[in-house]
Amino acid sequence: MELKNNMINNLLKYYNKFKSRNEAYLNELRNDHDFFRSEITTNFDGMTRRLCKRYRYFSLDYIKKIVGRFKEASLLNNPMSMRYIESEFAILDVQLDLMKRLKQNGLDLRNKTVLDIGCAAGCLLFACSKYGAAKLVGIDISQDRLNNAKELMGSKLLKEKADLLCIDIFSQELPYGKNSFDVIFSTNVMEHVPSAHNYFGKIKEYLSDKNRGSFAFTSVGNKYNISNVLTEPHYGIPGLILLSGTEAADIWYSERKKLSSDLDYEVFEWYLYEEYKEMAFSHDLEIFPLLDKYEADLMDAYLIHHMDFAHKYYDMAINKLRNYGLEKSNYDKLDAAIRKYFDEYIKDHTVEKTTPERKLYLYLKYHAFVLEFVAMHGPVNSQCATTN
Ligand SMILES: C[S@@+](CC[C@H](N)C(=O)[O-])C[C@H]1O[C@@H](n2cnc3c(N)ncnc32)[C@H](O)[C@@H]1O
Repeated sequence: MELKNNMINNLLKYYNKFKSRNEAYLNELRNDHDFFRSEITTNFDGMTRRLCKRYRYFSLDYIKKIVGRFKEASLLNNPMSMRYIESEFAILDVQLDLMKRLKQNGLDLRNKTVLDIGCAAGCLLFACSKYGAAKLVGIDISQDRLNNAKELMGSKLLKEKADLLCIDIFSQELPYGKNSFDVIFSTNVMEHVPSAHNYFGKIKEYLSDKNRGSFAFTSVGNKYNISNVLTEPHYGIPGLILLSGTEAADIWYSERKKLSSDLDYEVFEWYLYEEYKEMAFSHDLEIFPLLDKYEADLMDAYLIHHMDFAHKYYDMAINKLRNYGLEKSNYDKLDAAIRKYFDEYIKDHTVEKTTPERKLYLYLKYHAFVLEFVAMHGPVNSQCATTN
């Protein structure tokens, strides 16, 4: 028995040592772009094997296919490339964690018919299958991404309960009829569609109005989150998230060469939680924030130190902006948007009496990194377990 325990302990030690070495290697790829460039060109097999150990649900062939694209000159020189690569794989862990959290919040997927709008490589649907969903439908406008989803799901799942369709949610009808889904997901899609308002209309149209347990779940980067202001999630430029879609696109196209990128600007508009709430309401949907990650103590700490945070982040944003060497007119626009944001941030936080409602408002406006909310047909009754 003791021998067996010793063996297990030794194996565990070996595994942990390997895991931390692997993580250190990946950290170097994340933080040192020259190292990334050298590894992808001279040690492609070794690099992809290490990624495969970290992101264990994906086959080595799949990982090689995704990473292989980044050998192309424009992506090779793009300092955001490692971030883009990992986001393709890390999203599965995020989605598995989301399913667990939804379950803990009383939102059950068992035997439900699920639609994922903008399903990309199918990670969310794959996670739903692990949590007992009966039918899985993924739609996306990119056939390339749907091909990846087919690979991830495998033929068994596709044959038994999954459909993957190349459909534009705005201009094409889904072949299932209205109100035919018990659960609708749309994660990280809202900022990529031309009208978030119409998007809620589509959710309303396809969400079941008969099943009492039906809900839609949406997640979207928070426009006013202080670190998103510092680093816009897709393109990295400070303050870019604060501009309108057209202003941001103009700046991106005139500066992207300087930033070693030829990516297209694929974002339309970002909104605040209160604005999403109004859009949903106009379609007779009510939204509730998923608050299981909200920590009241942390919020108190933010409130006490709000001026320190404002100064620190403001300096970081402006320094970063200066180092980019942008054209003066672009610099001025971003600088003005950042100043205005921090004025509003300070004003909003400087309130005599901070009620719990006010704290929640501030959390949803400035401190949630991602806005996650559940939508139901209104008026909502007490069945929603997510508004703690
Ligand atoms: C940023 S990705 C998010 C993918 C995935 N939901 C996730 O959380 O990782 C946005 C996806 O939405 C898809 N998409 C954009 N507009 C769409 C539309 N009108 N109809 C269907 N899919 C769309 C894109 O092709 C892309 O795969």
